[in-house]
Amino acid sequence: MSEISLTSAQTSQDSKPLRIAVLVSGNGSNLQVLIDAMQASALPIEIVGVISNREDAYAITRAKDADIPVAVLSHVVSGKRMGIKTFETHASAQLTEWQPDLIVLAGFMRVLSAPFIDSAPAPMINLHPALLPAYKGLDTHQRAIQAGERHHGCSIHVVTAELDAGAVLSQALLQVNQKDTADSLQARVQKLEHQLLPWTILLIAKEVIALNSQSKETFSMLPTLPLKLYLNS
Ligand code: GAR
Repeated sequence: MSEISLTSAQTSQDSKPLRIAVLVSGNGSNLQVLIDAMQASALPIEIVGVISNREDAYAITRAKDADIPVAVLSHVVSGKRMGIKTFETHASAQLTEWQPDLIVLAGFMRVLSAPFIDSAPAPMINLHPALLPAYKGLDTHQRAIQAGERHHGCSIHVVTAELDAGAVLSQALLQVNQKDTADSLQARVQKLEHQLLPWTILLIAKEVIALNSQSKETFSMLPTLPLKLYLNS
């Protein structure tokens, strides 16, 4: 299969970029893909801010290097754990200030409450490392291997109060090899994520997929959702 890449020819020159806020907890390799695409004008987006719930997340460095505003709302302050309500109060205020069109959870590892999700100033999507509805939650690669799955992958779905249960917008699939371990599978799935996330955001920016943050309903010009992509891994 040939490498799929986004080029500036696929973006509209005159339409306004989609304002995106990204929530992260760790390495931020998916954030980096979005930063690279934005800087190369390969995606019609503007990353208006990044929120991290961990002060040691490498994603923070990636955002700062790209001059993107960062809010570190650490879940541990002076050894004390910040409750989810406190985090959400600060995150809500920050998001309202940034006025994003879309909120992207890219490796964000805290479970958000229903009131926060329902009152968010923009639709929210999450990148999940499994083919939903299979393997919600954590340790998805290990569980897929233990179950003897022949296929695995990643999904992008609308965030709702129920964990990893909102409408699935897109998925990328791979075949599990006999030699795969949880680590090798994680690395292969990440390669898919790095393609699925920009493609899905492009479809949202182009309104091929339309999201409604209040009703959580999705509308798509595609014949069916989720869009299933067979990408290189
Ligand atoms: C990604 O693999 C993403 O699927 C996963 O965290 C990783 C973050 O990687 N997300 C979840 O498990 C959410 N439940 P990154 O920080 O390098 O983008």
